[in-house]
Amino acid sequence: MKVGIDQIGYFTPNKYVDMVDLAHARNQDPNKFLIGIGQKKMSVADPTQDAVSMGINATLRYIDKIDKSKVGLLIFGTESSVDQSKSGSLFVKSALGLNPTVRAFEVKEACFGLTAGLMIAQDFVRLHPDQTAIVIGSDIARYGINTAGEVTQGAGSVSLLISSHPRILELNEGHSAYSEDINDFWRPNYSKTAKVDGKYSTQVYLDFFKHTFSAYKERKNLETKDFAAIVYHLPFTKMGLKANRLAVEGTDEETNARLMDSFTAAKELNANVGNIYTGSLYLSLLSLLENGKLKAGDLVGLFSYGSGAMAEFYSANVVEGYEKQLDKVGDKALLDNRSKLSVAEYEEIFSAGLEDPENDVELTSDEEKGRYYFAGIHNDIRQYQVK
Ligand code: COA
Repeated sequence: MKVGIDQIGYFTPNKYVDMVDLAHARNQDPNKFLIGIGQKKMSVADPTQDAVSMGINATLRYIDKIDKSKVGLLIFGTESSVDQSKSGSLFVKSALGLNPTVRAFEVKEACFGLTAGLMIAQDFVRLHPDQTAIVIGSDIARYGINTAGEVTQGAGSVSLLISSHPRILELNEGHSAYSEDINDFWRPNYSKTAKVDGKYSTQVYLDFFKHTFSAYKERKNLETKDFAAIVYHLPFTKMGLKANRLAVEGTDEETNARLMDSFTAAKELNANVGNIYTGSLYLSLLSLLENGKLKAGDLVGLFSYGSGAMAEFYSANVVEGYEKQLDKVGDKALLDNRSKLSVAEYEEIFSAGLEDPENDVELTSDEEKGRYYFAGIHNDIRQYQVK
């Protein structure tokens, strides 16, 4: 039976910082950020955009195209959760008007969260082919002002519809997973910013990639040349570039050129949005689908990584006519319509985001009409409104 990705929606807030401006403010050579890290811009979430509102906005991108009555599962993957108990899924379910019969919950394993949800959703749809599943990854990456990780921040969400009649990608059965209990990146409950050992994290990511990629190829009897493209979890695009260089090592010239070209296509959205943790791999997938040269039947490898650490490699085949399901113009507009912040303005918004909202202080949003936003807390209950 076929199961796969039928729809992809993404959202990023309406403000950004340019990496050249940030480099100047931090007395760094702009090329370190642009080339050494591989980032051009980063989206900034003001206090009215959180994991929930961004997840709703990402799903709104395709909700009118689907049969809502068929959605039987709604999984919210995040490491920027807004509540210790109630899942983000329930706010999303309410905003989108989904059936009360939907199974809704939240999952966590750092940036692996959306993939974890996708794997559960895939099994769910195989068992219930007449139903669909929505899987959301939504995060704000916060490392702190003037930290080494600052240039790898960002904010955004990706939402996927998984179905037994997928119109974008057919997921292949089988995967290779690998985990170890380590401390490369984490965020204790008492901290609004992440703790990270960036160099160690990069090393583990690359080791896990080598391990899962070779195990996957062996298990499925595949060679690197069989892949039209490989997409990676991209906390910053240089990290994926390093993994892609490992992937093409020892391959023929044509495979090398193809996988390098497809990586260039796959990093474009991420270089302009920044790190969105759970959604990063799927933002890169969207970037590849929109900017690459894929054709029906092409095999795409996907490498998911969540610090702590958990990795998984799996693959999918491109479905004929996939382009018709994408909204390339709308996706580009989301980036182009953002307003540029000065570094001082970004710092002010960043600091405001570290504060807990006060009860009964209503927030107003400057997002465009139709977008959801966090409107403040009333009686300790988070309020979401639509512009
Ligand atoms: N021109 C071009 N490249 C330059 C440069 C210049 N002027 N100056 C430096 N660089 C390169 C460096 O050579 C290095 O490249 P390499 O990685 O290929 O060796 C790169 O820029 C980064 O420089 P480095 O000195 O290592 O940066 P840093 O100490 O500021 O740290 C990170 C960079 C990525 C480790 C840091 O931003 C971080 O920790 N980010 C968070 C990572 C993360 O989120 N991990 C967990 C999620 S999986």
